[in-house]
Amino acid sequence: MSQMSNKSENALNAICPYFTMFPLEYPTRVLKKYKSSNPIVVDPFCGRGTTLYAARKLGLDAWGLDSSPVAVAIAKAKLASCNPDEVIKLAQKIIIETTPSNIPSSEFFKWAYHEDTLKQLCALRKGLLNRNRDSNASAVLRAAALGCLHGPLNKREGIPSYFSNQMPRTFSSKPNYSVRYWKERKLKPKPANIVDVLEKKVRRLQGLSNEYVGNHNQIIFGDSRKPITMTRVSDNFSMVITSPPYYGMRTYVQDHWLRNWFLGGPDDVDYIVRNQLDHNGQENFAESLGDVWTNMASSNANELRMFVRFGIIPSAKVDTKSIFLSSLESSGERWRLISTRSAKTAQEGKRQARQMNSKSQAAVEFDFHVLRQ
Ligand SMILES: C[S@@+](CC[C@H](N)C(=O)[O-])C[C@H]1O[C@@H](n2cnc3c(N)ncnc32)[C@H](O)[C@@H]1O
Repeated sequence: MSQMSNKSENALNAICPYFTMFPLEYPTRVLKKYKSSNPIVVDPFCGRGTTLYAARKLGLDAWGLDSSPVAVAIAKAKLASCNPDEVIKLAQKIIIETTPSNIPSSEFFKWAYHEDTLKQLCALRKGLLNRNRDSNASAVLRAAALGCLHGPLNKREGIPSYFSNQMPRTFSSKPNYSVRYWKERKLKPKPANIVDVLEKKVRRLQGLSNEYVGNHNQIIFGDSRKPITMTRVSDNFSMVITSPPYYGMRTYVQDHWLRNWFLGGPDDVDYIVRNQLDHNGQENFAESLGDVWTNMASSNANELRMFVRFGIIPSAKVDTKSIFLSSLESSGERWRLISTRSAKTAQEGKRQARQMNSKSQAAVEFDFHVLRQ
């Protein structure tokens, strides 16, 4: 993780891990440079909402789009503003008032959570799913619960940081693999009180109660290629800061299958890929990305700048710059390339490469700055 993300003042940005996030330094650097013009910011591949968090910290209005329910749930917390007490009280109320149902009975869940913890967790899941609309507190509660859903056991005594048994990986490891891991090590799940674990997390979220011009409804679940998704976004945004998926990377939902379950998904891995860019060949990919740039160009702002961090793992053997340039061309809009810089984020790149089971070295990433003409 980057230095900024490690700072306790940025605990809200780290409320829940998400793969392939970019370092907070990147959007922060860009936004600081343009802050005086008070840009309205959009991230059409917002992931866990790093761009949005950077904008919030600088008091700038921001909107985010993503086709993964997990990303949307995490990103919403970045724009929510409330008192931590409200979040904790809401968790208590839901768990007391909701009778848990649909408690998963697979071997995975028996090993992953203590029986009492799983009941509380299912009550919280049901209570959050039954809400018609989110409040700031429920948006934060959902993201915090996703962040506490699974992780390593504490090294020392005290309130655990996660609800689960020791997890083999930080992403949602597959059920069979996890069960084997626990059985081999005879690791039985210990009870964890859901509210205590959540309280420990939520109290650390510095700046959560700070007022903000935007709100959690500015995070939109949808496919950024489709014009209809844009109808819910401010029409005069002037800056796009984003990082599209790496070419070949589309397992965002499966890799978070347990978090996706908490959000109402199935209690097993769902391998169907929905609403991702078209990864069948470079041309299709560039075209698919071009559709997103067409939507971005629909802004009514006088000046529109896009900052795009884009990379490709070396094993893909394709040229990052040429894919990006053809995606701009395919958008049917006129863009001027202002600069291309190497992103030099070797660690980030390695993480994405690992994620894709690639033994290759770090990815080649570039930061592109383009201006709509
Ligand atoms: C590289 S990640 C972005 C990470 C983000 N910068 C962060 O810091 O968390 C790319 C994101 O694009 C999303 N995505 C992929 N195809 C999409 C589409 N067609 N529409 C909207 N989002 C999409 C994925 O779900 C994923 O969250």
